This record gives sequence, C-alpha cells and structure tokens, in this order.
Amino acid sequence: MARRRDFDGEYYARFYGDDPVHTRDRIAHLASAVHSLAQWWDLPVHSVLDIGAGPGYWRDWYARNAPGVEYVSTDVSEHACATYGHEQRDITQWRPDRRFDLVVCHGVLHYLDARGAEAAIDNIGAAAKGLLYLEAPTATDLDTVVDTEATDMSVTRRAASWYRTRLNRHFEQVGAGIWVARRAGLPLYELERSR
Ligand SMILES: C[S@@+](CC[C@H](N)C(=O)[O-])C[C@H]1O[C@@H](n2cnc3c(N)ncnc32)[C@H](O)[C@@H]1O
Repeated sequence: MARRRDFDGEYYARFYGDDPVHTRDRIAHLASAVHSLAQWWDLPVHSVLDIGAGPGYWRDWYARNAPGVEYVSTDVSEHACATYGHEQRDITQWRPDRRFDLVVCHGVLHYLDARGAEAAIDNIGAAAKGLLYLEAPTATDLDTVVDTEATDMSVTRRAASWYRTRLNRHFEQVGAGIWVARRAGLPLYELERSR
C-alpha cells in the first residue's frame, strides 16, 4: 500500500512546478475534447463535479470557455482548497446529494487504498448522470508508460481489471478515459465502445 501523502504546498510545487505532471495548456485540449464529445452524444454539460481538483485547471477551462456551466470543484487537501478555491471533500466518504452531467476524477484514485478507492468509485457512480472522465495509472502504467521523473510514484499499484470491475457497476467504458453512466442510457455504436 502507498504511504498516505500530505497534499501540501510542497506537493503542488513538486508536481505542478518546473517539471509538471501536466500543464494548463494540455488540460485545455483534454477538457475541450471531453466537453465536445458530450455534445456529440447529446449529453449536454450543464453541471460538472471535479473530484480532487488540485490546481483547478479543468475548473479554469470551464470558467473561460463555458462560463454558464455550474462547476463544483472539490479536494481533500486543505492547502488546495484554500489556495485554489475548492470545497473540501474526501471522496472516500462524501456522496453528493445530487447528480452532475460530467464528473472529472483526474489523477486521484491511485492515491487511495482499496477500501477508499472502492468507496470513491461508488460515490462517483452515484453522482454521475452523463459522462465520467477518469485517469488513474495502473501498475502496468507505472512500470511501462509514465514519466517517472514527473509522476508521483508513491501511489497504490492496482491492475486495470481491479478498476474496471468496480467502474463497470456504474459505467460503460468508451475509451480515452471517458466512461458513460449506465443511467444515461446512451445508445453507443458497438465500435464506439471499448468492448
Ligand atoms: C495528482 S493531483 C490531481 C489534481 C488534478 N485533478 C489534476 O489532474 O491536475 C491529486 C489530487 O487528488 C486529491 N485527493 C487525494 N485524495 C483525495 C480524496 N480522498 N478526496 C478528494 N481528493 C483527493 C489531492 O489532494 C490532489 O489535489
């Protein structure tokens, strides 16, 4: 199991400073693509829930490009909430009492132990009525894909199958980090789906 991180000023300086894990500009491409795909599928995005929003790059993209969208950004870190302006929530314990058109959970689940990650996935599933954007590196990704200089390696190593088993209870996987809430009833073509 990974040791529990302190998500403090040092953490954000280390992973969003000179050698960042990703940048505001790169997130702009991703947010734009996810938002556009939702519109392509006629799942308009009026509300977004961002889990573990960190520096808030997704939130800032929405504020600039789709200012009418209601955006709720959350993080467990006191530092992130005070510095970047999020609601302080621990997704392992917090289940919102409403649903959102898009849920973003970018780079968070691999910080959680098995019990926490399973609870988080169930809470995310309860909150999603349209799309989920999810990124969480698996054990294989940590061994063979990520840039080990830029990436935090003090995380929990899990197989993709572990995540898929739990995510599949709530979502259908499309690909590229995009999942559709089963309750959305979106009739995807066979070759749009990942399987
Ligand atoms: C790698 S950063 C990702 C930040 C942002 N989503 C991004 O992609 O730039 C991980 C974030 O997850 C947050 N986090 C970790 N555990 C969490 C939890 N249990 N509930 C909510 N946020 C959590 C951390 O505080 C940190 O800001």
